[in-house]
Amino acid sequence: MIVYRTRQDVASHLDATRDLGKRIGFVPTMGALHQGHASLIERAGKENDILVVSIFVNPTQFNEPADLENYPRKMDEDLTMLRDLETDVVFTPSEKEMYPEEDRRTFDLGGLDNVMEGTFRKGHFNGVAQVVSKLFETVRPHRAYFGQKDFQQLVIIRKLVELMNLDISIVGCPIIREPDGLAMSSRNELLTRAERKAAPHIYQTLKAAKEQKAMRSPAEVKSWVSGQFEDRSLMELEYFEIVNDTDLRPVRSWTEPGRKVACIAVRLGKVRLIDNIFFD
Ligand code: PAF
Repeated sequence: MIVYRTRQDVASHLDATRDLGKRIGFVPTMGALHQGHASLIERAGKENDILVVSIFVNPTQFNEPADLENYPRKMDEDLTMLRDLETDVVFTPSEKEMYPEEDRRTFDLGGLDNVMEGTFRKGHFNGVAQVVSKLFETVRPHRAYFGQKDFQQLVIIRKLVELMNLDISIVGCPIIREPDGLAMSSRNELLTRAERKAAPHIYQTLKAAKEQKAMRSPAEVKSWVSGQFEDRSLMELEYFEIVNDTDLRPVRSWTEPGRKVACIAVRLGKVRLIDNIFFD
């Protein structure tokens, strides 16, 4: 496993392997790796000749300074895990390396960034687009792997690839859950014991909401879900939306064409957790 710190070094290593006809699989991360990341990394390793993982906590996608400051950082443990997963190349740039000067680019994400997460985290997806575009330009992978837990991000990355006219296949990978159903996330470790105990309610509610589909309209399911958080003292529901899985428009009727996905964001103390479930 080779660890690179600069864009130029990693790019020249990968240019040489690409010239040899090797397929490059890329998993961008912000570190604090868990089994959810491991599943993406294992899949990328199986489907490609060269496995590249980046670790970079990207400041431009954090809309709250405290969230950036508290974001877990575990470089040594991450590198051990990446070695065990037989990663070929790790890219861990500094902030100065990624942003030698302020990135003022704004991306037209077609409104996909104005709903759900975009309403609660202003500028978040523009920051994601800034860093992912730079990472893609540097690594130039054949395939890049993203978790479906960040469903809106996955849809936006597909849009970004289209906007930038890049020849990269974006592979969405299933959510990996704890035994009690909580979706794995680097942020889970920031929960207090009581919050962690309460957190499985999020996925339980999503599953129950899916069951409601046979009896209720989308609007009724939405208000039923709101009710499920009313008496939960540790949790605050930020949003629950049932959307079309390609344009993220709210679903008004079950007979509309397209796949439907229910997305949720819940605040537990200082931590925000997101999750989602397909309704068909
Ligand atoms: O999903 C993440 O961990 C981040 O948003 C990403 C894609 C690595 C960009 O910083």
